[in-house]
Amino acid sequence: MIVYTDSLEGITPAHLAGGFFAGWPNPPSPETHLRLLRNSTHIVLARQDETGPVVGYVCALSDHVLFAYLSSLEVLPAFQRQGIGRDLVRRMQAKLADLYAIDLLCDPDRQPFYARCGLQPAVGMCARNYARQSGQGITEGSAG
Ligand SMILES: CC(C)(COP(=O)(O)OP(=O)(O)OC[C@H]1O[C@@H](n2cnc3c(N)ncnc32)[C@H](O)[C@@H]1OP(=O)(O)O)[C@@H](O)C(=O)NCCC(=O)NCCS
Repeated sequence: MIVYTDSLEGITPAHLAGGFFAGWPNPPSPETHLRLLRNSTHIVLARQDETGPVVGYVCALSDHVLFAYLSSLEVLPAFQRQGIGRDLVRRMQAKLADLYAIDLLCDPDRQPFYARCGLQPAVGMCARNYARQSGQGITEGSAG
């Protein structure tokens, strides 16, 4: 049974080695993924069971005043279309319920999913430095 948690206690890189960042040419390692989770303002994890591997996660970055940004969300391919992604977003929305804005960027083919989560379409802009996609070599304090 899927267990949802916002705690990283007991989570090791091995728990994150199921194949996240699917399709990324230069994906972060499980070690880097764990740092990303630690450094996010809020997280929710979906684990296969109480002590099992992580099969989905969502991260948010917040100013704790008005704005939060959903910076990443993924459910492992074998666990998709079982309601886990929506559960993760709903749990994150509950954490951020006192804020004015929850924003994210996504490709158009993800919009129906986010609409199911109660979000509305918006227009965005972004920049990407693909040489930094793996997060390798980025340490706390060296990346802005
Ligand atoms: C997007 C993602 C998180 C969805 O997770 P999921 O667990 O498969 O989604 P759910 O099963 O909770 O789906 C909730 C609803 O959205 C629908 N849905 C999910 N993915 C969809 C898609 N790609 N297109 C259209 N509808 C979709 C489901 O059918 C379901 O609809 P329902 O209310 O009729 O039952 C998952 O596909 C994923 O990890 N994709 C790769 C990474 C990614 O794209 N992350 C988001 C970056 S912005």
